[in-house]
Amino acid sequence: MPVSTAGSSYIEKTRIQNLFCPVKEALPAGMVKPLLRALAGEAVRPAPFWLMRQAGRYLPEYRKLRASADSFLDLCFSPTLAAEITLQPVRRFEPDAAILFSDILTIPYAMGQEVRFVEGKGPVLGPLNPAALRPVGNRLDPVYETVSLVRASLPGNTALIGFAGAPWTVAAYMVEGGSSRDWLQVRRMAFGDPERFAALIDRLVDATIDHLAAQAAAGAEALQLFDSWAGLLPPSGVRCWCLEPARRIAAALRERHPSVPLILFPRGAGTLLTEFAEIGDCIGLDTSADSGWAACNIQNNAAVQGNLDPALLVVGGEAMEQAAGEILSALRQGPHIFNLGHGVLPVTPPEHVAALRRIVQETA
Ligand code: CP3
Repeated sequence: MPVSTAGSSYIEKTRIQNLFCPVKEALPAGMVKPLLRALAGEAVRPAPFWLMRQAGRYLPEYRKLRASADSFLDLCFSPTLAAEITLQPVRRFEPDAAILFSDILTIPYAMGQEVRFVEGKGPVLGPLNPAALRPVGNRLDPVYETVSLVRASLPGNTALIGFAGAPWTVAAYMVEGGSSRDWLQVRRMAFGDPERFAALIDRLVDATIDHLAAQAAAGAEALQLFDSWAGLLPPSGVRCWCLEPARRIAAALRERHPSVPLILFPRGAGTLLTEFAEIGDCIGLDTSADSGWAACNIQNNAAVQGNLDPALLVVGGEAMEQAAGEILSALRQGPHIFNLGHGVLPVTPPEHVAALRRIVQETA
């Protein structure tokens, strides 16, 4: 059942087709999309809604396309398929934003490090040789083509979010060679060989700026920087390897694309979020952040995004409804974008996402 009437004809039109199907419905002149209003600091009600990892394995239509592709990276670099995957959750749930379907590890891949995604294991990267990393060149161009395809086919009130991994988190995968139990290798390099590590971070800052700016140029209306592993570091490390790179990225983007807001998601940064709020237009709260604390300490400086526990979305029902209600009520006085505290889990029933979308829509 469509949750609002605004996009229902879009849903009707696109339901008939499985594959990429551009449909355009402009907002009346002068109206700004709800997500962009919240990012500009307005307390928009109902709160704009989208979910991290809203496209992915919990959707049968994603699994079907994924099974037909040779590899996950093939999907990321195939503009028509990546655009289709980006639009799948938009058709189902009418969120206020689409997030580009891609991955944070496209940057190391484009720099020449081997990157593969292994079923059941996640990313596996080849050995890191910083001296052998090359400039990204035009290898990420298919991503920008995806951005323009999606932008041309979104309903008028849905904003398009582009993204990149933050340098610290991308470096963590590059140094460890994949996910890790203790992430000791990357911390060893950061603490034990800070000059060599800074050189890697500097290259990633530059590549990230170019990647985000190119997404904005292709039609992304907001950008998110995922720093999923900020919480591995002590406060001084967060300031040095997460906050300072974010500051440089934000400054460069403000110069190149002053009207495109930046969402920072430094997961596990705790009370240091107040320092990130000085830099970003919006702060993504992880599951552990207290929304009442964020209302007092973040919303005065930046919009807040988040932060329902993805496990509550798996559980659904009253537990989910109550937790979502508490977040909405704690953050209702200021700019808030409803989201999860981390990505949608693959076992999530899609009906729970539809129910959550309705709850947020109906909470004025
Ligand atoms: O949010 C979205 O829907 C947009 C697309 C998106 C993906 N990855 C697609 C994806 C985004 C924004 C990401 C970000 C990303 N990728 C992060 C930061 C956010 C986070 O989750 O902390 C990280 C750390 C990665 C690296 C990565 N990609 C890992 C660790 C994995 C394996 C774990 C997993 O969930 O499978 C991936 C694979 C990946 N990225 C999938 C998707 C849909 C699943 C791939 C598959 O189909 O097998």
